[in-house]
Amino acid sequence: MEHTNVADIQIRPVSAALGMEICGVDLSEPLDHEKFNRIQQAWHDGLILLIRGQRLEEDDQVRFCEQFGVLGSVLNKHTGGGRHPSVMYISNIKENGALIGALPDGEMYFHSDQCYVEKPAMATMLYAMEIPKKGGDTIFSNMYKAYETLPSELKIKLEGLMAVNVYDYEASGTKRGSKIAEGVKHFAHPVFRTHPVTKRKALYVNRLMTDHIIGLPINESNDILNFLFDHAEQAEFTYAHKWTVGDIIIWDNRCTLHARSDFDSSERRKLRRITVLGEKPF
Ligand code: SIN
Repeated sequence: MEHTNVADIQIRPVSAALGMEICGVDLSEPLDHEKFNRIQQAWHDGLILLIRGQRLEEDDQVRFCEQFGVLGSVLNKHTGGGRHPSVMYISNIKENGALIGALPDGEMYFHSDQCYVEKPAMATMLYAMEIPKKGGDTIFSNMYKAYETLPSELKIKLEGLMAVNVYDYEASGTKRGSKIAEGVKHFAHPVFRTHPVTKRKALYVNRLMTDHIIGLPINESNDILNFLFDHAEQAEFTYAHKWTVGDIIIWDNRCTLHARSDFDSSERRKLRRITVLGEKPF
């Protein structure tokens, strides 16, 4: 088996906000440690990695993703589980009348994966298999920049505070300040978290899943959260990725948010998704 030399990898920024594109790798082949270390450093620098033009079977994507850490398991096999226990599909395609994947259609607000559990996924990887002609972009936001550019009085006020994150699969979004329905998963995490590798601080609240900030009156919590959501989603912190079949992206849930733009539900969309286990945010 042939390995490309590390010198053959090219790394370039994807946008002013975040992202590094890696060229010169074929992920259908194993990556040696030296090359992976270079890729992992680019990931920490860029927060998301983009690699285009890949042709990957489930096993190839699993092998690449495993280099980032221990893979998460797909908990609900009825929402798009693949052959491998860590693989799930995001898709609106139906076979024999049933969806083959999860999160089928429509816009999704900004969020960080699994922020409503004690140890949210550290990373999420998507591989594009079928893509609509227009829309269905995944939009990423740089939460280091969001934190660093907050007014200093807000940084001081929110330092050390926790926010409750919740995701109700039955509801289209969160109803902030309302009682969290019985059985719906939720967990409190710091409003500002520290990345365990880069040691940088990131804003860790999001429009889809953050319900309230503990210890503030509900009106104040709502006002501050609305300010933080608008702040985190501004154009200068974001990059919208227009997928092409064969693209692979891995994002770091500890320092980014992501959202999805709407698309024509009569068009087919299918991405293969794997997550990497993470630590309790601090
Ligand atoms: C997700 O939020 O994980 C889905 C992203 C997408 O479908 O683009």
